[in-house]
Amino acid sequence: DHTNADTLRTPIVAVLGHVDHGKTSLLDKIRGSAVSEGEAGAITQHIGATDIPLDTISGMAGELIDPTDFDLPGLLFIDTPGHHSFSTLRARGGALADIAVLVVDVNDGFQPQTEEAIDILRRTGTPFVVAANKVDTTPGWNPQEGQPIQKSLEAQSERAESMLNENLYEIIGQLSDAGFSADLYWRVQDFQKNIGVVPLSAITGEGVPDLLTVLMGLSQRFMKEEMAIDVFGAGEGTVLEVKDERGFGATIDTVVYDGVVRNGDRIVVGGQEDPIVTEIRALLQPRPLEEIRTEKQFEKVGEVGAAAGVKIAAPDLDRAMAGAPVRVVRDRPVEEVVEEVKAELAEIEVDTAEDGVVVKADTLGSLEAMANALREAEVPILRAEVGDIAPRDIAVAETANQDEHKAILGFNVDLLANAETELENADVKLFTDDVIYQLIEEYETYVEEKQR
Ligand code: GTP
Ligand code: MG
Repeated sequence: DHTNADTLRTPIVAVLGHVDHGKTSLLDKIRGSAVSEGEAGAITQHIGATDIPLDTISGMAGELIDPTDFDLPGLLFIDTPGHHSFSTLRARGGALADIAVLVVDVNDGFQPQTEEAIDILRRTGTPFVVAANKVDTTPGWNPQEGQPIQKSLEAQSERAESMLNENLYEIIGQLSDAGFSADLYWRVQDFQKNIGVVPLSAITGEGVPDLLTVLMGLSQRFMKEEMAIDVFGAGEGTVLEVKDERGFGATIDTVVYDGVVRNGDRIVVGGQEDPIVTEIRALLQPRPLEEIRTEKQFEKVGEVGAAAGVKIAAPDLDRAMAGAPVRVVRDRPVEEVVEEVKAELAEIEVDTAEDGVVVKADTLGSLEAMANALREAEVPILRAEVGDIAPRDIAVAETANQDEHKAILGFNVDLLANAETELENADVKLFTDDVIYQLIEEYETYVEEKQR
């Protein structure tokens, strides 16, 4: 459906936040209201992503949006489940997401994964807005289904409004402690200097029109140039997840952020060892309007253009790495593309030392984040790799010189069954967590106790 080569692609919006703060519910609400607006057909579900076209957004945002102000095609939302590290969302050394929504439960405020999300947003310089979610749980709340937040606030008692405000200012204070000047979004003049906070409810939908309006405005104002792509160019993307799929073997859930990927294309994918060169056997999308992450039945498509999420089936993908680059070869020598992928992987290679701890993480991005955090904590790394904890990791950890370094720090990974007895018999301490700084704290406490 692309007619000219140089066109604006859909901005990629990552939805981040602490476990249970309402990321998935927010996306469900956006999808659901589009369905009730009679726009169901307009929403395309992708692997790992949901594409909401501008018309649908403007339908939902009502009076808040004038669609003629925009020429971006819509927004592509990526959900990041709390247990999964969104630091996977990297591309070309930067952030895969053009923009982010940080979901914070108004009652809970900042939590460990909120802090971690903020760290990554800061490091990658990703513009973001805060969705202060669950406003409907304020005592005495009078729900206003799907209304803009100002309308909803008008319907609240003074007491409810002031209770909500107290929570909102708490969050604004926490943002400020994290080094971001923030305010309620309608008071923000310059979204590049200040973070807008949008009070909303993913259940009643109030405030959701405001969020969509702010996101569209931000993308249009600040990201338009970056959205201009050659839609016929060789596709580029990032692996979100490597998954075994019955009938297809190992597949990669990929977000395509540039160009086009076609069935039969030769691709180069970042792997555990050398880059994998393979040929696409199938491009798969979930069947329309089915929940993506649980969806089992796929539809084969001929091609996908950026921005999009897609499942790629091809031989030899079992050694592919989450967070690694995917490049279509097309008209270039394959060696050139392999070198490009190698160069990108080399950028994330972690500095290792003669002595140190062993680090394992679920994705390249989280490995990078772990390495950064460990450097700051002045903990040296002997070896760092993506993947679950295997017997040989224990063997490597045992070779550390100092006792305190005979340790494995696992982020978002499991101990493989065949490594359990090894660990029992080895003089190696294992730490696992799904919050980076907690993991490092646990290790530091252990070292302190050891030294005492
Ligand atoms: P993970 O994917 O596990 O990280 O969680 P999540 O952030 O996707 O949270 P999810 O959307 O699954 O919501 C967690 C719980 O909070 C669910 O029981 C939701 O129904 C509830 N919830 C989410 N948003 C709201 C809201 O705005 N109001 C109320 N009352 N409940 C909400
Ligand atoms: Mg979720």
